[in-house]
Amino acid sequence: MDFDPYDRIRPILWQRESLRLLDQRKLPFSVEYVECRTSGEVTEAIRDLVVRGAPAIGIAAAYGVVLAAGDVTAATGSEAQAAMQPAIAALGGCRPTAVNLMWAVSRMCRVLAAAGNDWRRRLEEEAVAIAREDLAANRRMGELGARMIEPGSGVLTHCNTGSLATGGFGTALGVIRAGVAMGRIARVFAGETRPWLQGARLTAWELHQDGIPVTLVADSAGAHVMKIGRVQWVIVGADRICANGDTANKIGTYAHAISARYHGVKVMVVAPSSTVDMVTARGEDIPIEERDGAELLSLAGVRVAAPGAAAFNPVFDVTPAALIDALVTERGVIERPTAAAMAVAFGRASA
Ligand code: MRU
Repeated sequence: MDFDPYDRIRPILWQRESLRLLDQRKLPFSVEYVECRTSGEVTEAIRDLVVRGAPAIGIAAAYGVVLAAGDVTAATGSEAQAAMQPAIAALGGCRPTAVNLMWAVSRMCRVLAAAGNDWRRRLEEEAVAIAREDLAANRRMGELGARMIEPGSGVLTHCNTGSLATGGFGTALGVIRAGVAMGRIARVFAGETRPWLQGARLTAWELHQDGIPVTLVADSAGAHVMKIGRVQWVIVGADRICANGDTANKIGTYAHAISARYHGVKVMVVAPSSTVDMVTARGEDIPIEERDGAELLSLAGVRVAAPGAAAFNPVFDVTPAALIDALVTERGVIERPTAAAMAVAFGRASA
């Protein structure tokens, strides 16, 4: 099926001398690109959420490794790797929860370590491959996930998991794009995703660009929307999926999953295999990023909380595998994921 009309946005543009990133802090009212010429600028852009979404930060970091090569003169890849180590470590450590970031940086390091005097070219080829593979995975997952949805269904999504968060097409939003294209999804609800408003600012903008009608709801409206029968699936992405299927995703996902089980609504997690972390046994072991409380106390730079209030701002939570009905990766669908099913699909961790 041709999904191209439903997929027009590209947030990461590789220019060989630089990386252009669509500035997601400014969407939807301003469409501006930030130009990164050094790996340090890419690290900063990831940390400041110029680019965000687990697969997208992995792709950006891979290009960041290419930029880290800068004017390094080294005869072999392993010599280059030693020179680039501080920049590589900064890239890999700038956001802790999304495993795609470390996955992409490790993959780039493996290529670098094995390369000879062609290391610079090999690095660039690998970064381009990471981006291409992500887009291909998303299209495959889109079809696999959409086929599980009964025609006429309503869906609720959380955060932004679309082209803005990936190499294109999206994970959960890819399933929604495919489901709309295949005539299976009749209604799309997006939670606003406090505090950074990825749903209100990014998902609503992205779907509107592609002509897909979307209805915004407050995050706290999710349970009610389920109760009145407007949605049959909650469809979300992931930042890290553990060996037992426990899944970290944007804060609020866990609450939606609990509500969904109570109301007989199904939960679908959609993520490429680069989000699967077979080394981390269970959700309790995932580092949860906590960001500045100012994100919560203010809205668009204007303070909304009463003076004197403190803020706790964990930006991810973990949904236990037991609340997930379907885990969709490019390798196939796992219904009701368990450690055993995960091991069959992804192998056991060697580390
Ligand atoms: O803090 P963010 O915006 O980077 O968080 C993004 C999410 O939680 C997404 O749901 C997840 O990365 C999947 S994106 C395909």
